[in-house]
Amino acid sequence: MNTARTIGVRIAGTGSALPSCTLTNADFERMVNTSDEWIKQRTGISERRICGTGENVATLAHDALSRALEAAGIDGAALDLVIVASVGSEMRCPSAAGRLAASVGNTHAAAFDLVAACSGFVYAMIVGDTLIRSGRYKRVAIVGAEQMTKFSDYTDRSVSILFGDGAGAAVLVADDDPSLGCVWETMGGDGTNWQHLYIPERREDVPESDAKCTMALGCLRMNGPEVYKFAVTKFCDVMGRALSENGLSPADVSQFVCHQSNIRIIASARDKFGLPADKVYVNIDRYGNTSAASVGICVDELWRAGKITKGKPFLMVAFGGGLTWAASVWNA
Ligand code: UT7
Repeated sequence: MNTARTIGVRIAGTGSALPSCTLTNADFERMVNTSDEWIKQRTGISERRICGTGENVATLAHDALSRALEAAGIDGAALDLVIVASVGSEMRCPSAAGRLAASVGNTHAAAFDLVAACSGFVYAMIVGDTLIRSGRYKRVAIVGAEQMTKFSDYTDRSVSILFGDGAGAAVLVADDDPSLGCVWETMGGDGTNWQHLYIPERREDVPESDAKCTMALGCLRMNGPEVYKFAVTKFCDVMGRALSENGLSPADVSQFVCHQSNIRIIASARDKFGLPADKVYVNIDRYGNTSAASVGICVDELWRAGKITKGKPFLMVAFGGGLTWAASVWNA
């Protein structure tokens, strides 16, 4: 539990953005030796959205944040901190966050990028909440934005079918009610297992254990079965802790917002805790795995549908490359 809660954190608005092009399972059937049936059964994905000409992490982040600011009724110039979670910003320097702040008319906010792969949005929400509670910041933009398809090797059927592009955003503001915001969180990482999910930039980045890898540099390399085992275990572990350490039963929670990585991973957590299907949001069928954007897009769709409501906490949970994981319980 957080201590010294004198400042609350309110989610003032949310937004999301999906790129214009769609890549269906039928498209993959034409590209590699796979089938719509295999992809749906093993992952739950029917299609994913991918960037077209002129679309990238910066444009998706801008569109998602603009929608969140509009929903919040806040001018971009009023933000005092912008955090972008992404593994794929266009440049190493400047940060995506700095250019994003400028794109919404802000010339003074602190801005930085955060790399925690698919856990990025949940990490960034926790960091934003903590910095507002410190009293130093009052209006914070949190954005998860990814163009995962630029890291996809479309000859590798086991990885490329999973990923899509998109962005999700939330505007957090300081509030007089200290009960609002993140009431419980856990963030973690295990760098000893980084080689199960990585994007090598130089040949020497490829570990000896993966020496047979013939994939092009700059493409996402993943040991699917190992990540799957880690994900199922970690998902259930942190969800169980979120419930037990807060004295919550599934009935007390409005929504379980899970990283959309594979429907079978989400279903394993749903089954273990006996969660009703209408409390475990799923959009992986439409968007695939959008890495750091995934939880943010879910939060926005739930928020706009009125499913994240006052009085009942919601839970966010994610895991990803690093390996990393994060979960947090929020009072909206
Ligand atoms: O958010 C980032 C975290 N990432 C994840 O959460 C991903 C976690 N892992 C997974 O979701 C699954 O491991 C995958 C969906 C990536 C793969 O599913 P799987 O059931 O673990 O398959 P597998 O890699 O064990 O492969 C089983 C079989 C193999 O064939 P053989 O050797 O048994 O003949 C693969 O070659 O399935 C084959 N296969 C495919 N077949 C048709 C792998 N990909 C495909 C495909 N279409 N696209």
